[in-house]
Amino acid sequence: MRVGVFDSGIGGLSVVKSLLSHKLFKEIVYFGDTARVPYGIKDKNTIIRYAIEAVEFFKNFELDLIIVACNTVSAYALAEMRENSTCPVIGVVEAGVLATANALKNKNSTILIIGTKATINSKAYELGLNAIGYNNLSAKATGLFVPLVEDEIYDGEIIQATFKHYFHDIKSPDAVILGCTHFPLISDALQNYFGKNTILIHSGDAIVEQLEREFVFTQKYEKPELKFFASENPEALRKIAKKWLEL
Ligand code: DGL
Repeated sequence: MRVGVFDSGIGGLSVVKSLLSHKLFKEIVYFGDTARVPYGIKDKNTIIRYAIEAVEFFKNFELDLIIVACNTVSAYALAEMRENSTCPVIGVVEAGVLATANALKNKNSTILIIGTKATINSKAYELGLNAIGYNNLSAKATGLFVPLVEDEIYDGEIIQATFKHYFHDIKSPDAVILGCTHFPLISDALQNYFGKNTILIHSGDAIVEQLEREFVFTQKYEKPELKFFASENPEALRKIAKKWLEL
């Protein structure tokens, strides 16, 4: 299978990392809209317009599937992407909801959803979780983590101060949904903050879980072909990809 991975910028590489570690695809075409990132503070119509443009870009490749790694796009534009795409489109929100249900059998479990302002305002995770009986939810927009991760700050004083700022009134929940591409990069720090009893739900692993449930993979690809594109400065994206993905 040949897959396209779409994100607003570099963060979706965290999803590519999970795809690579499971060796599911022969070819991965990544597109990051680095010229227009961040999406997480933009309005619904803008996010939908950009997402449809990404679908058009992917038409240059004969893809079998598009994975929307961006939580913000998954929350707002999945239906419109599907309408415009010639191949199936799956997103991390749906995958994250299913992974949470798999991880937490008790429907009374406490779940904290963190993401960009747009993702949290969409209530996409809450709606998905409510629909399958999980109602003990809280949500917090934690957008400051995005520039921190982009600045390669994964722990330390600033991260701890930011945790305190966002979470000072929150008791450790049973699970935290990392509802943003960048958050897996601070997952060690988050795990330490909330404690080992809190399960962290990671979009990349959730997508792999969903793929393995819905598709039959007959082959493992040790060395998939990787193509990285960006709407601005693709060289910078390729450099970060090399580092994050240890290529
Ligand atoms: N990729 C975005 C997400 O997962 C985070 C960065 C942005 O705001 O564009 O929501």
